[in-house]
Amino acid sequence: MFDNLLRFRNFRYFWWFLVTVVVGCLLYASHSSTEPPNGGTWQGYVLGTWAALLIVLLALLGFRKRSYRSRLGTTQGWTSAHVYLGIALWFLATLHCAAQFGWNVHTLAYALMCLVILSGLFGVYTYLNYPRRMTANRTGSNRSELFAELYELNREGADLARHCAADIQTAVLSSIERTAVGGSIPAQLTGRDGSRFETLENGAKRNTDQEAVIEYVSSRIPKAEKRAEVAYLQDLLAILCRRQAILRRLRQDVRFQGWLKAWLYVHVPVTAATVAALAVHIVTTFIYW
Ligand code: HEM
Ligand code: HEM
Repeated sequence: MFDNLLRFRNFRYFWWFLVTVVVGCLLYASHSSTEPPNGGTWQGYVLGTWAALLIVLLALLGFRKRSYRSRLGTTQGWTSAHVYLGIALWFLATLHCAAQFGWNVHTLAYALMCLVILSGLFGVYTYLNYPRRMTANRTGSNRSELFAELYELNREGADLARHCAADIQTAVLSSIERTAVGGSIPAQLTGRDGSRFETLENGAKRNTDQEAVIEYVSSRIPKAEKRAEVAYLQDLLAILCRRQAILRRLRQDVRFQGWLKAWLYVHVPVTAATVAALAVHIVTTFIYW
């Protein structure tokens, strides 16, 4: 879907981007040799006003997205324009201030704007890549089907473990109970796995990627006393390995989904901060005029 956004109506907004940047550069180049380029020349005022109006337009996307009855263009068109004009804004603002920076509120507005643009670029990267990678990772199932498969494997694993010795029962049942998927926001974004399991010999242990419990059960197979126990342990091992594969997919899915949203938690609040700093910038420049 995002592929289409960049190509919207034959790259319409790419041309808008190009025209904005070229006209901005021409304005900048029209500075006379007596007055060095800066935010206070007439060209600087035009570029600054243009950039400020663009920021307001870009910030309006949030409202346009939520007003389903609006007939003012399609959401797709707005988002396509948003992406291209958001990048053009960087050129306009940099030309406006002639890349002169200092430790002041003007540069703060500029820095915040850059943070919004960078987070936006990252957002486009996630939209372009993650949905495809999510589909490949889920191999035809959706997330609730993967969870349903996991619960079924948990049930089968617990049933088999009850036929085995106490040490295996403790290890397998506790590994199922203490399997972690998702959790805190950092854990979701990094796919960190805080799973643990209990052993009769040494108490609680880490069980990252279910490796420790798989190792524990497989090392018990050569020590099994009865044939029937060997068969149970082998079946159990197969189930634990299938669980491991499903859990990997689920964690990856949670990670992708997390990144698809996480960047907006920078993009939107920093947009508000940019608009506030910009208002202070404009008011102070008029006060000291
Ligand atoms: C209506 C819109 C705007 C007006 C009227 C305006 C006005 C000005 C003026 C008069 C200056 C020169 C100040 C001086 O030389 O002391 C300036 C500088 C500057 N402006 Fe703007 N501006 C506007 C929009 C923006 C926008 C959108 C940004 C970026 C977010 C921005 C960032 C800067 C920066 C970084 C400087 C340089 C400050 C410095 O030299 O330390 N301005 N602006
Ligand atoms: C200073 C410039 C920018 C401002 C003020 C701005 C502001 C916003 C706002 C308010 C939203 C709506 C978020 C929501 O309510 O869900 C949004 C969404 C978005 N922005 Fe920006 N943005 C800017 C620059 C950019 C840039 C440069 C890009 C990409 C290169 C970008 C990409 C996006 C994307 C992909 C969305 C989500 C659209 C969707 O989910 O439909 N933005 N932006």
